[in-house]
Amino acid sequence: MCALSFMATQAQEKKVLVAYFSCTGNTERIAKAIAETVEADLYRILPQKIYTSSDLDWRNARSRSSIEMNDSAARPSLADKKAKIENYEVIFLGYPIWWDMCPRIINTFLEAYDWTGKIVIPFATSGSSSITNSVKQLKLHYSNLKWDTGKLLNKGTEEAVKWSEEIINSMIK
Ligand SMILES: Cc1cc2nc3c(=O)[nH]c(=O)nc-3n(C[C@H](O)[C@H](O)[C@H](O)COP(=O)(O)O)c2cc1C
Repeated sequence: MCALSFMATQAQEKKVLVAYFSCTGNTERIAKAIAETVEADLYRILPQKIYTSSDLDWRNARSRSSIEMNDSAARPSLADKKAKIENYEVIFLGYPIWWDMCPRIINTFLEAYDWTGKIVIPFATSGSSSITNSVKQLKLHYSNLKWDTGKLLNKGTEEAVKWSEEIINSMIK
């Protein structure tokens, strides 16, 4: 058995899920590469109401995304609650950086399930912002979860493959 498939088997034994939110495909591409690398299940976090391009216009203070990001209590509804978090031990959680934070739907997602005992590994894509502030806020708000440092994966799928291999490798040592 080659090292990679051994790691993937180990990852499966650990029951890994890659859950992600993505509007324009960048985070989705990375999420798929991670899921393939660690042979994890893939779950797309979908809003009940899909974001249109005008919803995503951060230059417009009255766009849907601006209104949501301005309101720390905003919790956009999910299209479904079928992530079956109870079946997994390790969850890679991917999102685009919005306003130097995670989109509010990530909060909705986190608040929709029981995360007791779960290891959550954040990853993100962005225009240029780092993942640091979003992870800091997530750790503050959901301090009962076991948060990993997380990683911004803006360089493409090769970087994502390498990083997720390292993560899984470190878990089985
Ligand atoms: C509403 C909104 C806010 C954004 N805010 C930031 C930001 O604060 N910093 C940044 O670097 N990029 C920001 N971006 C760019 C996205 O993070 C980036 O394009 C990301 O890769 C999109 O991921 P997706 O294709 O998976 O939706 C923003 C994009 C949108 C739509």
